[in-house]
Amino acid sequence: MTFRARHLLGIEHLAPAEIVALLDLAEDYVRLNRSTSKHGETLAGLTQINMFFEASTRTQASFELAGKRLGADVMNMAMAHSSLKKGETLIDTALTLNAMRPDLLVVRHPSSGAVDLLAQKVTCAVLNAGDGRHEHPTQALLDALTIRRAKGRLHRLTVAICGDIAHSRVARSNLILLGKMENRVRLVGPPTLMPAGAADLGCEVFDDMRAGLDGADVVMMLRLQKERMDGAFIPSEREYYHRYGLDADKLGHASPDAIVMHPGPMNRGVEIDGTIADDINRSVIQEQVEMGVAVRMAAMDLLARNLRAARDEEAADG
Ligand code: NCD
Repeated sequence: MTFRARHLLGIEHLAPAEIVALLDLAEDYVRLNRSTSKHGETLAGLTQINMFFEASTRTQASFELAGKRLGADVMNMAMAHSSLKKGETLIDTALTLNAMRPDLLVVRHPSSGAVDLLAQKVTCAVLNAGDGRHEHPTQALLDALTIRRAKGRLHRLTVAICGDIAHSRVARSNLILLGKMENRVRLVGPPTLMPAGAADLGCEVFDDMRAGLDGADVVMMLRLQKERMDGAFIPSEREYYHRYGLDADKLGHASPDAIVMHPGPMNRGVEIDGTIADDINRSVIQEQVEMGVAVRMAAMDLLARNLRAARDEEAADG
C-alpha cells in the first residue's frame, strides 16, 4: 500500500504519492456522503477519541461525523473541563486515555509540537487536528481535494495564501503540501504578519494584495489569529480590510476563473467581503467543509488499515 504512515501529524512527513492516495480514497467518501445511506463499516469495532484543547466548530464536528459514518465508537472529550484544569500534564492525560485502549486519537492543542509529543506516548494512531501555529494536515488535504476538484489538477497552479501567515498552521500545512505537488505559492500579507524567513520557504512574498493576486488561480484567505498575537500586529481592522481584505476590486486582479477559499471561521468585513464569500461562482468555502468530512474519513481509514496490519504483525511475532 502507498500510504505507510502510522500517525497523521503533519504534511511534512507525507510523500506526494501518499497525498494522492489519500485524496483518491476521499473521492469515494464524497460519493458515500452524497448518498442517502451514509454508513460504512470500515472503522467498526474501533474507538475514536477526540481531544480538543482549543475551540473548534467545524474540525471537531467533521472528525466526529467522519468516525460515525465509518462505524467507529466516537467519544468527544471536553478538555476545558478535564483534569488538565486541575494541573494534570498533557502526557498524564494522554496515558490515562491510552489505558482505555482507543484506536484513533484526534488531538488539537494550542502548543506547536504538543501532538507529536503525545503521539510518542500512546499505542494508537494519532491525528493532528491543529497544533499551535505548526501544522493542520487534514485542513491542507481538504483544501487540496477542493482545489483538485475545482481546477481539475493539483499541480502547476499559482496559489496566493493571504493574510495572517505568521500565526497560521493552515498556511504552513498548505504551503508544504502545495510545494510538494509542484505549485507556485505566493504569500501575501503585511510584513508584521509574515513569518521570519518567509522568502526562504520556496515561495514569493508580497505585501501588496493586487500584485500578489495578479493572475492567481487560487486565492486562499486566512483569519486574523488574534488569540495567537500578543500586541498589535495591524493598525486597525478597518485599515487591514482596506489593504488586505478580499473585495471585488482586489479579486479582479486574479485569474478570471480564480477560486476563493477560506478555512473558517471567517470574519466578514475584516479579511473578506461577505458578498465574495457567498458568491457561488467564485467561493468554494462550502465545498471545503464538505471535503473536510470525506478527507477525514479517508485519513482514518488509511491509518486504521496500518494499525490493524501492525497489530496483526505483532500478534504473529507472538
Ligand atoms: C483553522 C484552525 O483552527 O487552524 N480553522 C479550522 O480548522 N477550520 C483556521 C482558523 O482558526 O482561523
